[in-house]
Amino acid sequence: MGGPEMAPQLVQARGLRPLGLPGQRSGRPGGAVAPLDPRRSGQPGGAVTPLDRALEAAARARVTLILGTSDTGKTSLTARLAGALAARGERVAVVDADVGQSEIGPPTTVGLGHVAGAVARLGDAEVIALEFVGDTSPVRYIRETADATGRLVRRALDAGFERVLVDTGGLVEGPLGLALKRAKVRAADPDLVLVLQRSDESEPIARALERDVRPRVVRLAPSPAVVRRSAARRREHRERALRDYLAHAATLTLPTARAPVRDRRGEALTDVAEGLLLGVLGAGGETLGIARVRAWDAARGCIVVDTPVPAEQIAALVAGRATWRA
Ligand SMILES: Nc1ncnc2c1ncn2[C@@H]1O[C@H](COP(=O)(O)OP(=O)(O)OP(=O)(O)O)[C@@H](O)[C@H]1O
Ligand SMILES: [Mg+2]
Repeated sequence: MGGPEMAPQLVQARGLRPLGLPGQRSGRPGGAVAPLDPRRSGQPGGAVTPLDRALEAAARARVTLILGTSDTGKTSLTARLAGALAARGERVAVVDADVGQSEIGPPTTVGLGHVAGAVARLGDAEVIALEFVGDTSPVRYIRETADATGRLVRRALDAGFERVLVDTGGLVEGPLGLALKRAKVRAADPDLVLVLQRSDESEPIARALERDVRPRVVRLAPSPAVVRRSAARRREHRERALRDYLAHAATLTLPTARAPVRDRRGEALTDVAEGLLLGVLGAGGETLGIARVRAWDAARGCIVVDTPVPAEQIAALVAGRATWRA
């Protein structure tokens, strides 16, 4: 993973094109939509596929947020759109706002990545920045997850990316899903929201968004080819992502006088459990990565962690709620 600094060519601001998005709504309320065809766009014979519709809408939006319940193909669509836009010569960034089934950065973080061409997986994006949220579920950290998403969207725009796609997690139903998604939309301020839904499970959110002038809402039905995963498979996927991330870790013994351990409100902690996941912060408070606690050595005033972040870059550690026992 790269450090917190963007490559100079990404930092250099470029003029962003005016949007000129049409004011009208597209999509058909009630979830009556054509299925998202898994085939590539540009069909011979000229048939317009739902993927074409998504691409055509996303190509005119500076910020596009993709939402839908679990296993509706959000991440695959995000990767495909990012690759297609990059192939047109656009500078494309993706914010991965799914803290559980993370692709850009490890679980517990919101990640910002650069997609420079066709990618097989969203995880092939080059990581530019991370924000530690603290858990692999957003339910206790709705505001934090939304705020982190918004900050990374703005960071991408400030860095001159022309298209920013925001992939989200599958929690859409019930009051929590509605609150989370409305908070993310408020924070990310997208021009376009692509709603992937099988029937009408995302209608409460879609309709709530349509009451405002922005964003434009486009509904799409998932491809029949989308594979649904059990809770166990999702946990496996998350654990594999953590294992892969920590495969590059070193075991560091850090004096807590130099690298204080705090909770999310900034209160100093004097003990943490083995296995707890910590955000690793640099001198500017930016997230450099995550760490897993091995031990707290109170006698020596040290914490022992596994992390791929180099010791000399670490200024502080922040405790979340998620633990992982390898
Ligand atoms: N168009 C497609 N053709 C074939 N397979 C697909 C297609 N879209 C998605 N899949 C497969 O379906 C599974 C779920 O897709 P994906 O991860 O994109 O869904 P998601 O909505 O992002 O899920 P989650 O809610 O877990 O984030 C993946 O294994 C993916 O490879
Ligand atoms: Mg996903």
